[in-house]
Amino acid sequence: MKTDLLIVGGDGDLALRKLYPSLYYLELNNCMPENTRIIGMARTGQTREEFHSKINIWLKSKIKEELYSEEKWLSFADKIWFGQGDATDPEALERVKSEFFENDNHLVIYLAVPPMIFGNVCSSINRCGLNRPTTRLVIEKPLGDSRESFLAINNELSRTFSEEQIFRIDHYLGKESVQNLLALRFANDMFEPLWNSRYIDHIQITVTESVGVGNRWAFYDQTGATRDMVQNHLLQVLCLVAMEPPASLNAESVRAEKLKVLNALRLIPHEEVESLTVRGQYGSGYVDDEDVPGYREEKSDKYKVDPNSQTETFVAIKAEIENWRWSGVPVYLRTGKRMHKRHSEIVIQFKQSRHQIFEENHSEHKANQLIIQLQPDAGIALRLMHKVPGLDAGIPVEDGVLNFSFDEKEQKVTYDAYSRLFFDVLRNDPTLFVSAAEVEAAWKWVDQIFAGWKATGMPVEEYQSGGLGPDGADELLGRDDRKWLNEDFELWCALD
Ligand code: BG6
Repeated sequence: MKTDLLIVGGDGDLALRKLYPSLYYLELNNCMPENTRIIGMARTGQTREEFHSKINIWLKSKIKEELYSEEKWLSFADKIWFGQGDATDPEALERVKSEFFENDNHLVIYLAVPPMIFGNVCSSINRCGLNRPTTRLVIEKPLGDSRESFLAINNELSRTFSEEQIFRIDHYLGKESVQNLLALRFANDMFEPLWNSRYIDHIQITVTESVGVGNRWAFYDQTGATRDMVQNHLLQVLCLVAMEPPASLNAESVRAEKLKVLNALRLIPHEEVESLTVRGQYGSGYVDDEDVPGYREEKSDKYKVDPNSQTETFVAIKAEIENWRWSGVPVYLRTGKRMHKRHSEIVIQFKQSRHQIFEENHSEHKANQLIIQLQPDAGIALRLMHKVPGLDAGIPVEDGVLNFSFDEKEQKVTYDAYSRLFFDVLRNDPTLFVSAAEVEAAWKWVDQIFAGWKATGMPVEEYQSGGLGPDGADELLGRDDRKWLNEDFELWCALD
């Protein structure tokens, strides 16, 4: 069946920076269905040619030079049309409909506009009859800033669309390395017997970025790292690590298992919030060979920085999953901006047997670790003990790392996370999209943390830009006699 794509907010920032480049990648990989038309709808009038040239400029600035092909661009541009009008106005949408959608093609509508107008756009879609049973709606975060505001947004959408029609994007689920988690866990039977509290001591999930908040200060100051990263990306990754094997890879099974994990997260009581969470904010420092200002000293003519802002740009949380498999296995989450580098990984720290036979020579005897590297390089590393070569008395042991890389350097990557998600929505496969119940459960857990911070007045702790975050993050694990794995640099240099 032919499927058309209508992008509401079609010449906005999100569309130009992210959506068209990702759609171009589909064209580049011959994955764009033959007869698909992409209609960008925006208020500002422009000809189709002007619209193409705007998209082309952004495309060239966003993708690697070697991935640009004039031939592919022309075939891509051939699919792109412009529809003028304000999508909250049913008459404008009616005009766009009569120009492009008086057919029985399936329709995917992408709302690249702020959530506060979702409701009006949806009723306009409804009034002009564009909500057919096969119509799909794509939206992405921010979907509220609390459970309550999420439910309000969702109610607006559900007046027009059923849950099956709504595709909620979390771009982390579009990442190859995140999907690899499913492959690693469920296509390799050897892990399943070990994947529980009997053998695993704890789990670490780290997502660090070297960038600051840049031009997004005003938005970010209302949001902070917990809402921006933990509520969605980190919790989705946690779900894939911790969920039970789904009965199949269909959306219903996968989402049901993820939801059980979110619902099993222990709500952090106010009186424990100071011992189980850390809030940080970056000060000045040195990152990527540059001196950078602190969060409260960021400069821009676009916004006014609050010199007393208490917004967290770093957060670390000790999460606990209260179920049979994970009881007693903490999951430490951390994410922050302006850290030493862009780096994301999951560490599965195995337990160590109390009975040691390498007693005398094993000063370095360490428990096994499985390190799942998400980005920028993707791969897995298994830390194993082995004998130190040589004639030293006894069997001295040391640790070594078995590396397996699914690195972008080796396999030229010609698409991104959004391309994958576009591909799926065009094929009507919702597996890698997030259900309303998941978003709601994630907000419930995060809301409780915010309530705790409010009740205790817990301040942010400053950390130096270019480092590993605030000292409090080390103390969080230190209290449990554990340490973050911060070896990414040495470990992944060894791969080069
Ligand atoms: C976005 C956040 O969702 O994810 C940004 O709003 C963050 O603040 C980005 O920088 C990180 O995504 P990635 O794919 O670069 O890890």
